[in-house]
Amino acid sequence: MKIKEYTTYYKNRLRKAIDTLSKESRINLSTTGVETDSILFSLTTFSTHWSNFILLDNSNKIIAFSRIKDSGKLFEIQGFFVPQDLQRKGYGSHLMCFLIGYTKGKKGKGLTLEVRKGNSKGIAFYKTFGFKRTRLKDLEVYGMVLRF
Ligand SMILES: CC(C)(COP(=O)(O)OP(=O)(O)OC[C@H]1O[C@@H](n2cnc3c(N)ncnc32)[C@H](O)[C@@H]1OP(=O)(O)O)[C@@H](O)C(=O)NCCC(=O)NCCS
Repeated sequence: MKIKEYTTYYKNRLRKAIDTLSKESRINLSTTGVETDSILFSLTTFSTHWSNFILLDNSNKIIAFSRIKDSGKLFEIQGFFVPQDLQRKGYGSHLMCFLIGYTKGKKGKGLTLEVRKGNSKGIAFYKTFGFKRTRLKDLEVYGMVLRF
């Protein structure tokens, strides 16, 4: 396994990985809470603030993806996912450990993210790293924070 910064070279592989996700998971990933075709676009839109990372297996298949923003003290995570058939094998944890190390390496003091209220998988996953619920952003979305 290796972690690489996402480039458009991986676009088709990322699209395939997103396509494996259940409709519910795609909704959970979308920032608007509506399943749209633009998830790929919104996840991979490059800006100076976001760093997009992929976890690849030995045959260069994408086994996890996330993006992270240096927002000062607390870094922000968005778009975290593992293809449906590869979930619960520790790949998400591998990428999260990398992101924690990445943030600490840049002197960040912790991580924040938003998760849809009904996303019990996501909430259970983040809790294993010590993320705590902070606030209800709106009726559907929780904020979560992990302070180092
Ligand atoms: C959330 C997600 C990224 C977890 O990735 P993963 O690779 O399956 O997670 P891991 O295998 O590393 O799991 C680590 C721990 O998290 C918890 N966890 C993960 N999936 C879980 C589930 N479905 N139910 C309950 N707990 C779960 C468990 O404690 C697990 O440890 P265990 O397997 O030893 O019990 C993955 O389920 C996913 O991509 N979901 C769809 C997209 C999504 O909702 N992303 C979050 C958007 S905010």
